[in-house]
Amino acid sequence: MKKYIVAGNWKMNTSLQEGMQILENLIKIHQCKGFHPHTQIILFPPFTHLYPFSQLLDNTCIHLGAQNLSHHEKGAYTGEISAEMIRSTGATHVIVGHSERRIYHKENNQLLFEKVKTALNHNLTPIYCCGEKIQERKKNKHFDVVEIQITEGLFHLNEEEFRKVIIAYEPVWAIGTGETATPEQAQEMHRFIREIVEFRYGNDIASHLMILYGGSVKASNARGLFEQPDINGGLVGGASLRAEEFENIIKATY
Ligand code: PGA
Repeated sequence: MKKYIVAGNWKMNTSLQEGMQILENLIKIHQCKGFHPHTQIILFPPFTHLYPFSQLLDNTCIHLGAQNLSHHEKGAYTGEISAEMIRSTGATHVIVGHSERRIYHKENNQLLFEKVKTALNHNLTPIYCCGEKIQERKKNKHFDVVEIQITEGLFHLNEEEFRKVIIAYEPVWAIGTGETATPEQAQEMHRFIREIVEFRYGNDIASHLMILYGGSVKASNARGLFEQPDINGGLVGGASLRAEEFENIIKATY
């Protein structure tokens, strides 16, 4: 049976109290009963929420991750958060290279490769984000852009390391805009990603790779996207802040 991940990226939203409220609603609605072993749920709240969330999520089927990490181990890096700190909260995953980090914080593929390595060294599963801007798609450069992001950010990993990585394709023009890629556009890029991974790491690794789609996923379009053969779920921003909407996106994988 096809496997799915539905991940909620809360970005810089909610106070701790507001976040706890949403989480409590989600736990109540989802209940983790009628367990669906082929669908994994992961929440990426702000750093400040990780530890209290992990207490609430103990003994549930919902996993936890951070939205970013430092590539440094520790030391005099004021304001940074290390992989070890994230791991110590109970979180198991981390988003690396979200387009908002690439654009607003000038994170490049070389730095992101360091972050992926650091995450793996600390037993955190990275979700590595890639995706083109609208100008790049208009110039028909979207495949080149994504190939470079993946080659430079991931392809220096050895096979054992790469097996642990999840990729999220998030076209920048679809993030937070309400404009989703069509299932066909998303499938075409996911297929391309799987092909370049197959070329680099072989069929077994490529066929097991989880590739999530992100960019204005909501309950009304999730099923059409998730039905595509190379789409293994979604990285959901805005819609993950509403428990019922998020639950309906999760249900689109059943
Ligand atoms: P969105 O964000 O669902 O609000 O478009 C997705 C993301 O940035 O991960």
